[in-house]
Amino acid sequence: MGAAFDPRYGEAWTRSQCVGILAMPGVWLTLARVEGAVVGFALSRAIMDEAELLLIAVDPAHARTGIGATLLRGAIAECRSRGVKRLHLEVRANNPAVALYAGHGFRRAGVRRNYYRNRDGETFDAHTYALALE
Ligand SMILES: CC(C)(COP(=O)(O)OP(=O)(O)OC[C@H]1O[C@@H](n2cnc3c(N)ncnc32)[C@H](O)[C@@H]1OP(=O)(O)O)[C@@H](O)C(=O)NCCC(=O)NCCS
Repeated sequence: MGAAFDPRYGEAWTRSQCVGILAMPGVWLTLARVEGAVVGFALSRAIMDEAELLLIAVDPAHARTGIGATLLRGAIAECRSRGVKRLHLEVRANNPAVALYAGHGFRRAGVRRNYYRNRDGETFDAHTYALALE
């Protein structure tokens, strides 16, 4: 979490946020490992036949080696096996992760203007994306 998220945006979750969400029903965490060391994770939550990809992150030391795509495909596969029909996510508009989502069939569903604010007070739109799994 600490390595992957750019501290300028304050998007990394705290330890207590993580512990809290993991105790909630329908939440699952997938870890990516290279030679036993954790190098990435994806955190998702399903409610009935809808799910949300809450977080996905890869250690920058392993960036652009396909780990993020593997985690995303794993989340999609898990959603299918749980009977999820639509997977949602929300991302800062200027986050390069948008390319990852678009490459896996996610389509833009909406915009939340000025939803994110960085530590300099600069604001960024949030884009919501959805992937239909039917
Ligand atoms: C987004 C993130 C998870 C991608 O992980 P990754 O392991 O580097 O991604 P992959 O190597 O699997 O990339 C798959 C494809 O996604 C796209 N992509 C990923 N990172 C990209 C970047 N920085 N710029 C442009 N395209 C990118 C590319 O199409 C890439 O394919 P290519 O390398 O063949 O061109 C990672 O950059 C990260 O942890 N970012 C910080 C945390 C974050 O903002 N998460 C998203 C919001 S929760």
